[in-house]
Amino acid sequence: MSAQTDALIIRGELKTFWDGYSQITDERSMMLNEHADLLKDLDCRDIIRSLPDTTGMDVVDIGAGIGRFTSQFALNARSVLAVDFIESFLEKNKERHAEWPNVKFEVNDAVHLKLPKQSVDFVFTNWLMMYLTDAEVVGFLSDVCSWLRPNGYLHLRESCSQPSSQKKAGDKFHAEKNPTFYRQKSQYLHLLSHICVVENGEMWQLQPQWAVSVPTYVRLEANWRQVHMIIQKVKCDPLSKCILRNAVQLQDILSSEALQIQATYDARLDNVRKHLGNNVTMFPHVNDLLTNIGGNCALVIHASSLLSSYADPLNLSKLNVDCRVWSVETNIFAYRSQVTHMNTVKNANIRAQWTHNICHLPRQQPIIAEWDDFTTVVAFVNKENMFETVSAVKTIVKRGAKCILIVATVGQTRSIDVSKLTITSNVSITRLEQPICIDKISNIIDEQGSMSWFCVEFTI
Ligand SMILES: C[S@@+](CC[C@H](N)C(=O)[O-])C[C@H]1O[C@@H](n2cnc3c(N)ncnc32)[C@H](O)[C@@H]1O
Repeated sequence: MSAQTDALIIRGELKTFWDGYSQITDERSMMLNEHADLLKDLDCRDIIRSLPDTTGMDVVDIGAGIGRFTSQFALNARSVLAVDFIESFLEKNKERHAEWPNVKFEVNDAVHLKLPKQSVDFVFTNWLMMYLTDAEVVGFLSDVCSWLRPNGYLHLRESCSQPSSQKKAGDKFHAEKNPTFYRQKSQYLHLLSHICVVENGEMWQLQPQWAVSVPTYVRLEANWRQVHMIIQKVKCDPLSKCILRNAVQLQDILSSEALQIQATYDARLDNVRKHLGNNVTMFPHVNDLLTNIGGNCALVIHASSLLSSYADPLNLSKLNVDCRVWSVETNIFAYRSQVTHMNTVKNANIRAQWTHNICHLPRQQPIIAEWDDFTTVVAFVNKENMFETVSAVKTIVKRGAKCILIVATVGQTRSIDVSKLTITSNVSITRLEQPICIDKISNIIDEQGSMSWFCVEFTI
């Protein structure tokens, strides 16, 4: 059988899967959950409050279903196009939005959707990629890149690695034949950052901004693998060496390369006991800080590219703390390992987020929307990004928050210049300890050879 015939068969199976729910035009079908009533409002709130402001935007809601999110965009967007391939869902959506002249509807398969280039400010999807094959995901996201106006946004939310809820006996929302693709979050993030388009002689790329577990699913379903992410179409940075890849190359990145890289991380990180936190006495400041903050929030940032061999550097999930910890990772593969780890330990006080650039942290609603009383910051940084990191976190944390920077350096460096910290980061540092050089400690430097760590403590 040809690849084309195979593709048609799978497309047919995915459509049949959704046809099976077409008579149930309510939230249970939308969330594939008999108990959707308990989750729907909180889930919707989690997603909506983390989106860019859509006032005056042209928005496309693809795989819109009965319009759980269409309603939100109708309130302030200039135009909304709701698309779904199940007619009965879209009929319900239409019924609910009959009063809104800015909302239009199109019954269509997302993989056949045609929109003019640069005609949209925001492409919103919530549980759609998982119903597309790898080749279709590549085609769809490449189309999105050309539909978006410069600096426009894309939202994806997917069930990664596992379904959104557990199967219960006789559950009609867990079909016997389920063609859904439960991809790894790093597959999406890795693919997205390779998608580019040339427009008027300029190169633009899709740049993921952040990814995070949907809080309601962490709290109510103990599932860290409901992940949503915001992606922006940005001009290619000449230094980032953007390359225009064809569909076959992109599919290879999604279907093979991302999985291979992830497998090397998983082999090193899953179930390993190699955490800095196993030896917290090396960082007495960190240990004291985290164990003495009671019910407040700690922000832990892993922005050191030298630290990517640790899923959970502080072994947070094992630390005996009752504070809430938001752990921010900057490496997509280490992030996935971290989420796997949290999904196993299941401590809802500990959350993981990935971000592309620590400088954007203050703009990232998911952190601040749910918890806003950060009193403690522990940041693993490189010498090069310590100033930016302090500047970024100072807009999030409370005045008087205790901060510790654990600064990585490679080579024989015996000092770091922290004098610029007060000036460059524009914070008034009331206490600044001399850096402590933590050198040649075997379980930190085993793979990095001559790496040294400096610990800088201060109060913002
Ligand atoms: C899990 S529901 C989510 C609906 C809505 N986004 C929400 O979160 O409430 C998935 C929706 O995507 C639609 N869908 C799945 N594959 C599609 C495709 N290829 N083209 C258009 N719609 C699709 C389904 O009909 C369904 O309405």
